[in-house]
Amino acid sequence: MTNNMFFIANWKMFGDLKSVNSIKKVINLSKTKKYKKAQIIYCPPYTLIDKILRITKNTKIKVGAQNCHYSQSDGPYTGSIHSDLIKSIGAKYVIIGHSENRVLGDTNQIINLKIKSALKKKLKIIFCIGETLKEKRKKKTNLILKSQIYGALKNIKKNNNIIFAYEPVWSIGTGIIPKMENLEKQVIIIKKLIINFWKLKNPKIIYGGSVNPKNIAELKKIRSINGFLIGGASRNSKNFIDIIKKTIN
Ligand code: PGA
Repeated sequence: MTNNMFFIANWKMFGDLKSVNSIKKVINLSKTKKYKKAQIIYCPPYTLIDKILRITKNTKIKVGAQNCHYSQSDGPYTGSIHSDLIKSIGAKYVIIGHSENRVLGDTNQIINLKIKSALKKKLKIIFCIGETLKEKRKKKTNLILKSQIYGALKNIKKNNNIIFAYEPVWSIGTGIIPKMENLEKQVIIIKKLIINFWKLKNPKIIYGGSVNPKNIAELKKIRSINGFLIGGASRNSKNFIDIIKKTIN
């Protein structure tokens, strides 16, 4: 475990106005000295970004979107939101390359364009990578991770505004997490890939996939990890707080 820890809540397509009130407990926690190392970021559906920004105003909790369009300016893209619009309401982060969007058509090339547009608009990026079960069984994990990283970062100058989220697809929403020794090795490999590509000193790498209050004690032992991307368990403030408390103690 390293110093500052990210706890990024990915609410996916869940949450109504009422559900936002439960965040207050997390806000209170974030104000305590003991948990000042916790960098909490909420990524709700677009419809709740403004509400969460208001309720977290003057706190150190940040807010992000779960995706963006690759276009750098307005355009005829029904149902899409570009980085500038996300930035203009006050959000600071955006998740790009989540496997749930890769299956909907986000290729490494599209992800590359999305990252470029988000960086241009000075958003910080939570960039997701990870292999499917089929790829893992065929022992293609490292090949896939390399193509995802190299493809997404093509022609982008090295910078510190990207958090790399390793999310094995087979672990997302399944309750199954990698064996700790494998995860440890995988994180080291990812770090090397990024350093080879960018000569970046200390890339930030977080883990995502079925993180919950039960397995966090084990997951937090992974060295050189900078935090977690949390789906299901982040929507329940009690569970989310539990995860933060058990990580930083
Ligand atoms: P999960 O989702 O924690 O529900 O597995 C993680 C994610 O998809 O980012």
